[in-house]
Amino acid sequence: MLAAYVESPNFDDPLSALVVGERPDPVVPEGWSLVRIKAASLNRHDIWTLQGISQHPLTMPITLGCDGAGTLDDGSEVLLYPAMTTAGWCGDETLDNYSVFSELYNGTQADYVVVPDRNIIAKPASMSFATAASLGTAWLTAYRMLFTKSQLRPGMTMLIQGASGGVSTALIQMGRAAGMTVWVTGRSAEKRAHAEALGAHQTFPPGETLPRRVDAVFETVGEATWAHSLASLRRGGTMVLAGMTSGNDPAANIATIFIEQITIAGSVLGTLEEMRNLIDFVVTADITPTVGLSLPLEDAVAGYRDMWADKTNGKIVFTR
Ligand SMILES: NC(=O)c1ccc[n+]([C@@H]2O[C@H](COP(=O)([O-])OP(=O)(O)OC[C@H]3O[C@@H](n4cnc5c(N)ncnc54)[C@H](OP(=O)(O)O)[C@@H]3O)[C@@H](O)[C@H]2O)c1
Repeated sequence: MLAAYVESPNFDDPLSALVVGERPDPVVPEGWSLVRIKAASLNRHDIWTLQGISQHPLTMPITLGCDGAGTLDDGSEVLLYPAMTTAGWCGDETLDNYSVFSELYNGTQADYVVVPDRNIIAKPASMSFATAASLGTAWLTAYRMLFTKSQLRPGMTMLIQGASGGVSTALIQMGRAAGMTVWVTGRSAEKRAHAEALGAHQTFPPGETLPRRVDAVFETVGEATWAHSLASLRRGGTMVLAGMTSGNDPAANIATIFIEQITIAGSVLGTLEEMRNLIDFVVTADITPTVGLSLPLEDAVAGYRDMWADKTNGKIVFTR
């Protein structure tokens, strides 16, 4: 089968580690199912994998891709919940030593993927495969950040650091639909204009002082925006933290955190229940995740190249 995979990670030049080529068809273990992939989306996580960065030891070669949608043998249309728990785990999946596709098990950027049966969710008939493949990692993470972790209520003001990425665009679209005042930083006028077209009420260049301090900041950028995020929060506000794309070494500014009584809420992915709630929310609120680039899997290199060059505009999707 065709797959995008990595055989020899390269930290400094991750694109050189990407192979799009033939891999053996998968064997289906007991309690798992074979999904014929129709669409798989790209996440920053795939760049980390090409660099050899992973929560779990990687066995090479490994097929890339955390998210996907496709069909089962009987033709039913499905999408995938990305977190796989350890045997016997009950409760919040994100509190387990879970893995996502492309860590311990092969990923979704291929003709076929095998998945535990509990990770299979029926795709709403009205939803495209590209939308369904976008709802995994980035949108689920954004959903939990916004609705489970942020303590925001409709009418409050949120600041999203970063305008154009998968998590950022999901936060913009869902925040707007949920009745928040949505403020966004973006690194170019084009990215800020795109965020406004998606529903942001106001946008700002990175680091610009805001008209007033906000109720919650959504932080996935890390080092480059950390100081601005802390300075932008009102007393008693919440920083929801789910990533560090630009680096892991900010000056913590401990005094500001306790004097301003800031809650720092770490967040990863979401539970299976949150995934089901997310699907219902986007259907009910009539939200279509922004897909900036859709390519056949054969041309996956071009999608990876765009993400590595920070040229994202919502999700990047590979189709079959
Ligand atoms: N905790 C979790 O479970 C979880 C789940 C998903 C993702 N994440 C993390 O969240 C982050 C975003 O993931 P993604 O898939 O949305 O990635 P992505 O599509 O590549 O988006 C990257 C985002 O980072 C922003 N950014 C701002 N300043 C940056 C800088 N100096 N360097 C690099 N990027 C900068 C970009 O904003 P501009 O629009 O201004 O370019 C863009 O919005 C990653 O770190 C990822 O690992 C965590």
